[in-house]
Amino acid sequence: MGNLKSVALPLLLAFFLLHLPFAESVWFFNYHIHVRNDLPSCNSPPHQPNLLLHCKSKKRDIGDRPMTTGQDYTWDTKINFFRTTLFFCNTRWVGHKSRIFDAFVAVRDEDRCSEYHSSCMWSVRADGIYFSHNNATWFNEYPW
Ligand SMILES: *[C@@H]1O[C@H](CO)[C@@H](O)[C@H](O)[C@H]1NC(C)=O
Repeated sequence: MGNLKSVALPLLLAFFLLHLPFAESVWFFNYHIHVRNDLPSCNSPPHQPNLLLHCKSKKRDIGDRPMTTGQDYTWDTKINFFRTTLFFCNTRWVGHKSRIFDAFVAVRDEDRCSEYHSSCMWSVRADGIYFSHNNATWFNEYPW
């Protein structure tokens, strides 16, 4: 028994130490990322999606989402061991503009997104993609 313990414990420890850095998320803190469609809806038929959003990281694909004005696309993420967690979104305002923006970058967002319900708030508007750390004041961080 003593032998088993003296072998098993270091093995178990080694297993965790080796795998920890490569896990998708090792920190417990959970972030919510919101991307809201605040585009004008006047020029598109009602209930017709005017925004196509597709967000992903290297390891995780949140999926393609056609969105109508007012809709919110949301997912959660934790931060990986090396703090390299990064989600980017391909954003297409149908018939107008398209661009890619970074919706979550661990080192950029870990502090500013912890202020309001652990949320990163994005708003897609006619002149760009806005960020808010409090869901009240907005800054055009990615003009089209
Ligand atoms: C942000 O504020 C709007 C109202 O201004 C509200 O409808 C929405 O639920 C809020 N979002 C979050 C994530 O709290």
